[in-house]
Amino acid sequence: MANRRTRRDFLITTAAAGSLAIVLPEELLATKVGAVFVRRNVKFLGPNHPDIVSLKAGIQAMKNLPAANPLNWNRWANIHRHPNGLAGPLFNTCQHGHWWFFPWHRMYILFFERIIRQLSGNPNFSLPYWDYTAGTVAGSLYNAGALPRLFWSPQNNTNPLYNSVRNGGAAAGFNAGAAITPAALSTTVAMNTTTFVGSLRFGGQQVAAPTHFAGGPHGRLEANPHDSVHSAIGGDMGDPGRAARDPIFFLHHCNIDRLWNVWLKQAGRTNPTGNAAWCKQPFQFFNTSGQVITSRVRDVLRAQAQLGYRYEEEPLPQASSVCTTAEGIQEAIPEPSVESRTVVVHQQTITLGAAPTRVNLPMGNRTESLRGIANDTRRNLVLRLEGVKVDRQPGVVYEVYVGLPAGQPAVHTSPHFVGVLATFGVGTHGGHGDSDGVISFPIDRAAAAALTANPTSVPITFVPRGLIVDGREQPVQLQGNVTFTRFRVHEE
Ligand code: C2O
Repeated sequence: MANRRTRRDFLITTAAAGSLAIVLPEELLATKVGAVFVRRNVKFLGPNHPDIVSLKAGIQAMKNLPAANPLNWNRWANIHRHPNGLAGPLFNTCQHGHWWFFPWHRMYILFFERIIRQLSGNPNFSLPYWDYTAGTVAGSLYNAGALPRLFWSPQNNTNPLYNSVRNGGAAAGFNAGAAITPAALSTTVAMNTTTFVGSLRFGGQQVAAPTHFAGGPHGRLEANPHDSVHSAIGGDMGDPGRAARDPIFFLHHCNIDRLWNVWLKQAGRTNPTGNAAWCKQPFQFFNTSGQVITSRVRDVLRAQAQLGYRYEEEPLPQASSVCTTAEGIQEAIPEPSVESRTVVVHQQTITLGAAPTRVNLPMGNRTESLRGIANDTRRNLVLRLEGVKVDRQPGVVYEVYVGLPAGQPAVHTSPHFVGVLATFGVGTHGGHGDSDGVISFPIDRAAAAALTANPTSVPITFVPRGLIVDGREQPVQLQGNVTFTRFRVHEE
């Protein structure tokens, strides 16, 4: 195939190219015709599987490249975000908190996969995905929420998949038996959303132009499990400026990419393919020769047909996901201001720590309106925390409960549970590159019950969750504090 070069060619080209900067015209993305690459579930892959051997070899090769090479490991991670937000070629371009979260990250791991294919010398390499809900499925090599063994053993720098700063202790780096708490892995809320565009919908809010980190709540799958898995692993993964330095990042995002397909396959779900702005948006990356390549959203929507890959255990591709008549259509999707939909707002600065925090939210005289909304299937109540900041990433996630009776244990399967608060992407000034961190939870069912139990105030409980080791929850190792300044309950 014309554009598959040998490893030797590659090394010669990159050595000669020096500092890249050549911008190629838009390149056809479908480089694989005929056979389709199959991305495998890592739960079945042992250390000798070719995809694992090649992943390790490829990552090691990226680590060995000179720091100035665009395919160098840290340089590639800087495309996501530089640790200090410093400028550089394509640095700080990840898209969070809005409707381009999914396509941008699809492209980022696609070009990564091609680089690994090239550097490992294995032309059949496919990036595996980390199915964290794998559980005790027969043959699974790890438990639900546990990191695959290959990523923490051996625990030294002969293992290119190891990262020493994950939660679980510096030496451990998330080791044997350690697992993420089940609530942080849940896809239920996201999968139940029926539309793509909107800050509380599957894919996130509409924005006019690419935005590194948009203010406002993240789309539902981005919030949970995407953000919560990042925060629960902690260390590099907990911070967008370092996240892509942990090799598990790429398997996590491979799974997020797969979950996008799974969502689309459900009845009535579709991408915003009628919106030209969404469809035509270009993003830039580096190809395997270290040259800048431009790729548009509409060219990456059907993974198998356009990009030549599919997921093991994936439903068949969704035909509706095509930008066809999109040209010229600029459909604005209005979101009324949150102020105009607010029912209750309560100013109180809260700092979350290593112990549960319980706050009583006064309902004023709004109980009847709140109940009306909560009990109407066409209307939804949302709890929104505003002014969210961290001094450092806390390394834990918080389960959030509405109306949990005092003294009752916090169990995420209870009707009081409304979601997991994760601060991935929230900085010391709120959202990265933005004024205010905002995190939201749909609360209909829990609020209806809480208002019946007590019409004047509703308790909101935040329960920090550390790792689970051998089935037992470990004490929370708090590394930073989360604060927020305002509660708002609004109609959606
Ligand atoms: Cu751009 Cu999982 O992060």
